[in-house]
Amino acid sequence: MSPREFEEVIAAGQRVEPRDWMPDGYRKTLIRQIAQHAHSEIIGMQPEGHWLTRAPSLRRKAILLAKVQDEAGHGIYLYSAAETLGADRAELTAKLLAREHKYSSIFNYPALSYADVGVIGWLVDGAAICNQVPLCRSSYGPYARAMIRICKEESFHQRQGYELLMQMMRGTDAQRAMVQDAVDRWWWPALMMFGPPDDQSPNTAQSMAWGIKRHTNDELRQRFVDMTVPQGEALGVRFPDPALAWNAQRGCYDFTPPDWAEFTAVINGHGPCNDDRLAARKAAHEGGRWVREAAMAFARRSAEQQTA
Ligand SMILES: [Fe+2]
Ligand SMILES: [Fe+2]
Repeated sequence: MSPREFEEVIAAGQRVEPRDWMPDGYRKTLIRQIAQHAHSEIIGMQPEGHWLTRAPSLRRKAILLAKVQDEAGHGIYLYSAAETLGADRAELTAKLLAREHKYSSIFNYPALSYADVGVIGWLVDGAAICNQVPLCRSSYGPYARAMIRICKEESFHQRQGYELLMQMMRGTDAQRAMVQDAVDRWWWPALMMFGPPDDQSPNTAQSMAWGIKRHTNDELRQRFVDMTVPQGEALGVRFPDPALAWNAQRGCYDFTPPDWAEFTAVINGHGPCNDDRLAARKAAHEGGRWVREAAMAFARRSAEQQTA
């Protein structure tokens, strides 16, 4: 593919594949975005993973276990998609551990009760769906195809969270209070998941021109609010935003933006759990060293036997 053919493929809404010619900036932007996404899936296993041994019933444990395992799978699809662009997974992990790569700010908040498991499914996976459904039409083939599969699993994640909350809301006053407390804590970080406001997001225009991104951060944030507010009403929870109200003129909800100073602090490593999350990831990586070494030794020996 030539530079002109690349432009034609993008203009026609077709897909760019690994062996096609692509601009350096396109490749670099995609590697950064896909790696950041992969890191988020893997680090994102931690807040809920904490509750696996504390699930209130066998049924809840089986559901949560399946969900957390799905997130590991999402990380693997995405690291594989990044490798089709020439990135090396070990290097991407090293950059994450050295704090040179970022992951979603949301996973730097603690999950304090089992209601958080429900609210994470409902709001965090719900926000992830808003972000990710348009990426199923991303211009880069391997990324788009990975997203199709991931989105199917994300809708299960959102449903299991909502169903857990529905059950808790039908329970005792104490359970309802746990749900409300979790909504109060997760609402603002969930709004931050769409990234900074459009006028502070310098890369958006280029990413949209390349078909890597399909909607701006503010568009997706609005879509999330409009989708989520009626779900909260059906559930019987309040959102911690007195300005949240239906705007008949605009045909969508008005809402207060999250605290962007807090977002910047968390992204720069100063959230409540950044150090814990990276320390746990590092320990897991060290703990898995012998498995990687054994797999490499086995691959080497099999290759030697084949040539012999
Ligand atoms: Fe995921
Ligand atoms: Fe998920």
